Amino acid sequence: MLKVLKEANINNKIVLLRLDLNVPISQNKIVSNFRIIKSIPTIEHLIKNNNKIVILSHLGRPKEGEVDEKYSLKPVALYLSEKIKQNIIFEKNWVNGVDFKDSNIIMCENVRFQNGEKLNSSELSRKISSLGDIFVFDAFGVSHRKESSAYGLIDLMDSYAGQLLENEINNALMMISNPVNPLTTIISGAKISTKITLISKLLNKSSHLIIGGGILNTFLFALGHNIGTSLFESDYVDEAKKIIKHKDFEKLIMPIDVVCSNNNSFDNPQTKLISMVQSDDKILDIGAKSIDKYVDIIKKSSTVFWNGPLGYVEQEPYDTGTVKIAKAIAISNCYSMVGGGDTLPIIEKLSLIDNFSYLSTGGGALLKFIEGKELPILKKLGAYT
Ligand code: 3PG
Repeated sequence: MLKVLKEANINNKIVLLRLDLNVPISQNKIVSNFRIIKSIPTIEHLIKNNNKIVILSHLGRPKEGEVDEKYSLKPVALYLSEKIKQNIIFEKNWVNGVDFKDSNIIMCENVRFQNGEKLNSSELSRKISSLGDIFVFDAFGVSHRKESSAYGLIDLMDSYAGQLLENEINNALMMISNPVNPLTTIISGAKISTKITLISKLLNKSSHLIIGGGILNTFLFALGHNIGTSLFESDYVDEAKKIIKHKDFEKLIMPIDVVCSNNNSFDNPQTKLISMVQSDDKILDIGAKSIDKYVDIIKKSSTVFWNGPLGYVEQEPYDTGTVKIAKAIAISNCYSMVGGGDTLPIIEKLSLIDNFSYLSTGGGALLKFIEGKELPILKKLGAYT
């Protein structure tokens, strides 16, 4: 049984709270506040119960052992402090001890600046554990990692799952074990290599599986289509061919048409049937006929799970397919779950956050969970017993 914070009577303690505050930051400004906002209920619960909190998080993938301002959590500390209207002490050098002064909350600088964090150094975990009495893990996004400030602390401290983690597990479990059918899954993104297991697992469960991005191109190539200069993974063509032979392959939905460009600045979008793609074309989005087909599938679905943009969303008009699909899910009556770092910013930009049933804070961790893999931290916290 998962040991959950809300059922434990924790008060007047110093709580080490591991969050996933790995958020995009540009020029010291938070670009997406989603993970921060989702972390607030656990912070408020702990404060309400007269605890003091030491917040631990990583940000990005800095070179270990080196302080790099680009990956500093300081803007996050300032933002969170404003949101919860509490003073937060930001500690740059925290590993040998922290000082709350007149505050109840400390945020430590990026744990990945510490030597040994990524390698789950037990010496580093031991030092971190001495900063508090209790450990609360609420960083679903790193549940699949074995690092000192998370996995490494669980055996050393009395440890609990926070509210965000509980929600994530419950929603992901519902998606895996009890989806209301018909279930449509949309799996997209640049690389098939990271999603091949997920695709074969979901093909069994789904009524329809829509693929997009570089993943789609690899399948189109494996099916013998000309994909011109489009992004694809040549090393995974054989894996795609195995899926093509899968008994449920007809559930894998292919586009009718795509939007391509044949110049380097992509300023001449052309919609073409799949069979008309030329050797100098690069596929950058799905076409209008495909959008209609996918919207129709979404309308008839009771559950939709979506991971990954369907086109090159960085440049208009190649975001059209993704935007129209996002809007179609948002207005449908289905239970909709979205996961993965690249999809969320699009939904935020369209102000559609409240129109989805559940938006996960997890990227790789969520996909591994849905694949059915045991995530090491969840295992230690009792989620699988
Ligand atoms: C994420 O963004 O998926 C999590 O914060 C984990 O980050 P990582 O892949 O760098 O461990």
